[in-house]
Amino acid sequence: MTLPTIWRFTSLFTLLVFVTGEPSNRTFPNHFKFGVATSAYQIEGAWNEDGKGESNWDHFLHQHPEVVVDKTNGDVACDSYHKYKEDVKLLKDLGVDFYRFSIAWTRIVPLGRKDSGINPDGIAYYSNLIDELLANGIEPYVTIFHWDTPQTLEAVGGWLNSTIIDHYVSYARLLFELYGERVKHWLTFNEFSQFCEEGYSTGKKAPFKTLVGVGGYQCTHNALIAHAKTFDMYVKEFKYTQKGLIGLSVDTAWAEPKTDSILDKLAAEEEFMFDYAYYLHPIMAGDYPAALKRKINFKSFFQGYHPSRLPKFSRQEKKLLKGSFDFIGLNHYTTSLCSWSTTKFPSPSKLDDCGVKQSQDPSWKISASPWLAQVPYGMRKVLVWIKENLNNPPLLITENGWSTSDSNLDDEDRMEYYKKYLAEVLNAIHDHGCNVIGYTAWSLMDNMEWASGYTEKFGLVRVDFASPNRTRTPKDSFYMYQTIIKNKKLID
Ligand code: NOJ
Repeated sequence: MTLPTIWRFTSLFTLLVFVTGEPSNRTFPNHFKFGVATSAYQIEGAWNEDGKGESNWDHFLHQHPEVVVDKTNGDVACDSYHKYKEDVKLLKDLGVDFYRFSIAWTRIVPLGRKDSGINPDGIAYYSNLIDELLANGIEPYVTIFHWDTPQTLEAVGGWLNSTIIDHYVSYARLLFELYGERVKHWLTFNEFSQFCEEGYSTGKKAPFKTLVGVGGYQCTHNALIAHAKTFDMYVKEFKYTQKGLIGLSVDTAWAEPKTDSILDKLAAEEEFMFDYAYYLHPIMAGDYPAALKRKINFKSFFQGYHPSRLPKFSRQEKKLLKGSFDFIGLNHYTTSLCSWSTTKFPSPSKLDDCGVKQSQDPSWKISASPWLAQVPYGMRKVLVWIKENLNNPPLLITENGWSTSDSNLDDEDRMEYYKKYLAEVLNAIHDHGCNVIGYTAWSLMDNMEWASGYTEKFGLVRVDFASPNRTRTPKDSFYMYQTIIKNKKLID
């Protein structure tokens, strides 16, 4: 090789390292699977068609359109209820191994309780979607609940009322009966922290309740029990014949100490316990982390709460919870800097229970979602934490992605984000031996981003919301992800 040639190769290599953060010759393992995700309320539309019942999101956004930034809702969204075949074509073109979508409880059981009737048209919709996916060689990964609680159940307290647990388990059983022969990956819940803490404590998501310091804990408790009972039911009644796997998606930001000081390190650990271990420890070990229980119980006592604001699991529930997973789903997007708060948080509140102040580094690149900063190392650090603290369980990244305020096709920022985060997934696998079994990009297409409406776009595919056709057009990131999937490595 002549010198200039060597130089050319060397600089190409340096460039690749610079762009991706890692040498490009690292590959994803053979068994590693790639997918994309969506959820029912965010894409389906057809909110009251063919016998579908009303969900808490339908209900609340019709009553209070002002809670959504652009006063929109999911009545039509991406119209995937009518356009699912087109969606599957896109998925096929993208080359994904699986498609993670959620089932709207109210399409299957319109009034939430199975004994009040089931809806054949809704059942047919998901059956057709599953068939279409399988016919195209794409595995369905089904989220049983992605925040759209039947309004009939919400009206009597929703996830604050423990009677919802049995209704959820009956609904899940019905899904296993209907689709379990064809669906081999199930996720019981998506992001407890978002629908529980934000739904019942801080009032940012449906049902927009503000029972600060109480509601979120109660909701999480009931949802965790519903998860454990569903897992147990699947194992006893279906696993032997259907041979599927059950997990759940828990979200977390990485908690990085703001400085090197011991205090900030402790603050970051505390934050991670409240943000992540709080949800996962019960699934792994059968109960909330001991330190978290001590802290909330202590505070509750002096605030006059007897019993504690943090509910207790019974012995039987602990037994059901412990080990109730085949794989763990991780939704990870961003990182925050942690230090002890010097100002007082409202009390009682989960923030006050934790006591940690979170911030962003001014140098971080921020997406269209103010909470979402691009900090790729956070992905590796979360994965390594899971490996070291949770005994390296099979870990599926069930969401990761970047939002923009426009829907431009040349979405370079999104491409940069994906490349850098995927490079860290490779690092976690190759340098640390993390048991990551797959990766899911959020999202297949621009969609209804909850209280942010259509102002924050996460899609690999643009959706023209001004057109009744909801025309779909792949963005540059779609083609980049297609290439990554095809080659099982990052290619520039
Ligand atoms: C979390 C949620 O699961 C999903 O519904 C949401 O759109 C994305 N993350 C982005 O915020």
